[in-house]
Amino acid sequence: MNLDIVTLFPESFDWFRSQRHVVNALAAGSTLTTINPRDHTPLSGRQVDDAPFGGGAGMVLRVDVMDAALQAHYSVDPVELRRRRRIVALSPAGRLLDEALVSEFAGAPELTLLCGRYEGFDERIVEHFASDVVSIGRYVLSGGELAAMVLADAVFRKLPGALGHADSSIEESYSDALDGQPEYPQYTRPAEYRGWRVPDVLLGGHHAEIRRWRRERARERAT
Ligand code: ADE
Repeated sequence: MNLDIVTLFPESFDWFRSQRHVVNALAAGSTLTTINPRDHTPLSGRQVDDAPFGGGAGMVLRVDVMDAALQAHYSVDPVELRRRRRIVALSPAGRLLDEALVSEFAGAPELTLLCGRYEGFDERIVEHFASDVVSIGRYVLSGGELAAMVLADAVFRKLPGALGHADSSIEESYSDALDGQPEYPQYTRPAEYRGWRVPDVLLGGHHAEIRRWRRERARERAT
């Protein structure tokens, strides 16, 4: 996976880049590149945003600045670019991110995330440059960076080699292995703590019974 993130705050991804599953995915050949529109703006004073037409609070990321940043990085008109790779604009008004969409993105060889800031993007960025508009929830963040990190985190952990144990993303919440249901409850030592006992079935070592118990608990959580 070649993941590019267009952001005015590339340093905000430093922590993300150091997370073990991201380190593993990068070591296995994936890439994570940040592109800062401020480095490519055609405007003076490294300007990237402007006041909204019609009035209103805050600043809006300019379409000409995003155009210049994408052209500079990909050497292709971004209108054409979105036919070649998924260009995802993060916006509270977008399609809600779920496990199915994460899997779709994880299966793509290349992905570009566009982070809005301040009051968001000039709508022409979304209309003409993005192939997808994605929201991580019906609330407004102060920028797209955290949303991009959520999406990138969920995508990276699905890549081969990202997680230490090969099976650990297969039978987790919302996976096909669990019929799209949330994960069953997990317990570890001690088997009893302050009188709270781990269910006996998990201590018995009867694998078919354990599987049945886990499916039932997952189904209960889904309802
Ligand atoms: N940018 C601001 N809020 C957002 C959200 N909830 N999802 C995606 N991008 C956002």
